[in-house]
Amino acid sequence: MKYLVTAIVLVCFHSCCGLNLKPYNTTAYGMFVGYDYNQDNFFTLDELHRSFTIYDVNHDGRVTRHEYTAYVNTHTPTLHDLSHALYDDYDVDSDHHLDEHDFDNLFSMMDVDMDRRVSVQEWENYWVHQFIKYEHLHSQHKRR
Ligand SMILES: *[C@@H]1O[C@H](CO)[C@@H](O)[C@H](O)[C@H]1NC(C)=O
Repeated sequence: MKYLVTAIVLVCFHSCCGLNLKPYNTTAYGMFVGYDYNQDNFFTLDELHRSFTIYDVNHDGRVTRHEYTAYVNTHTPTLHDLSHALYDDYDVDSDHHLDEHDFDNLFSMMDVDMDRRVSVQEWENYWVHQFIKYEHLHSQHKRR
């Protein structure tokens, strides 16, 4: 599940140290560019798998909550709370492991028109919604 962590790292990059994710559509777009590895303007299930591999420290094909949140803690500690909330979303059966079915589910959440590829617009819609939904978990870091 390198993806989400990667996403979070990119968020940090694109928003200057992870302190402010606004404007959300711009942050989401920056993430899209980072994850569209072959730069064809579509995010695919393969790219989703690839994006999550950075979290899979023991390379067993699954991403545990610890692997995911530990990575975020190391790279973008201000997004610690958000990382737990996102993990809860991804881990649909709450078994504390992100497996194939969790990745499939996440992908289908983004791929609203079900054409097996996520467009920039689908990606932005998903992520802007997530950033708003979890605003209370990341916006307190805006100023300190
Ligand atoms: C984000 O939204 C603003 C306001 O609607 C728009 O002007 C801007 O072009 C959008 N940026 C991206 C990257 O979609």
